[in-house]
Amino acid sequence: MSEAKIVVEAAEKNKDPIFKVLEKVIPEKFGGDASLSALEISSGSGQHAVYFAERFPKITFQPSDVEEKYIASIKEYISGAKLQNVKEPIVIDVSKPTSEWATTVAEKSLDVIININMIHITPYNCTEGLFAAAGKLLRAGGIMATYGPYAIHGEITPESNVSFNESLKSQNAEWGLRDIDDLEKEAKKNGLTFDAMFDMPANNKTLIWVRSDSE
Ligand SMILES: C[S@@+](CC[C@H](N)C(=O)[O-])C[C@H]1O[C@@H](n2cnc3c(N)ncnc32)[C@H](O)[C@@H]1O
Repeated sequence: MSEAKIVVEAAEKNKDPIFKVLEKVIPEKFGGDASLSALEISSGSGQHAVYFAERFPKITFQPSDVEEKYIASIKEYISGAKLQNVKEPIVIDVSKPTSEWATTVAEKSLDVIININMIHITPYNCTEGLFAAAGKLLRAGGIMATYGPYAIHGEITPESNVSFNESLKSQNAEWGLRDIDDLEKEAKKNGLTFDAMFDMPANNKTLIWVRSDSE
């Protein structure tokens, strides 16, 4: 295996449960046969982008990350998979406004944004940036799927998530589980609404956000 190719155990475990949620939600929102455009923000290794691209041949996936080591890993997964519907990764620092991204992504050009296991493990300005980007880049009716552990209405459950939150904060005081109420505020600021929450293995959730009609 190439040195650049990173294998993340959690991504290996959660890629199929997340795919199963997308497989249900995407046809419900867009119909079963639509050709769609998806941006993954903070793709990490590239395991998810390639797994999803193999299973959604009509969706064109644009993976991205802020770190060069992940960009290199994503490239390895793409070249191994030989897929037509996944683009070369781009560098996106989601803490920055979309106007400052290294690559331009056209406003209202996306149907789907995917963001897995980033919100709790980055400073809050990345969450703000993520929702701001979704507001700008999704077309009306487009969706964003965010995956990870969350606090729900001020409460973190079960105990293992409480400990996880403490351990995140001890690594970086700016990290930690975000409350879905705060995420809803970010959504509202940017023309998105909370649509659905799916229970996932290991006390995670997938949240679906929808871009409302254009303002
Ligand atoms: C825990 S990893 C998750 C990666 C991948 N989504 C997965 O589930 O395996 C967190 C990711 O957030 C990315 N990240 C951190 N800060 C970021 C930023 N400012 N903009 C975009 N991505 C960022 C990291 O580079 C890393 O890929």
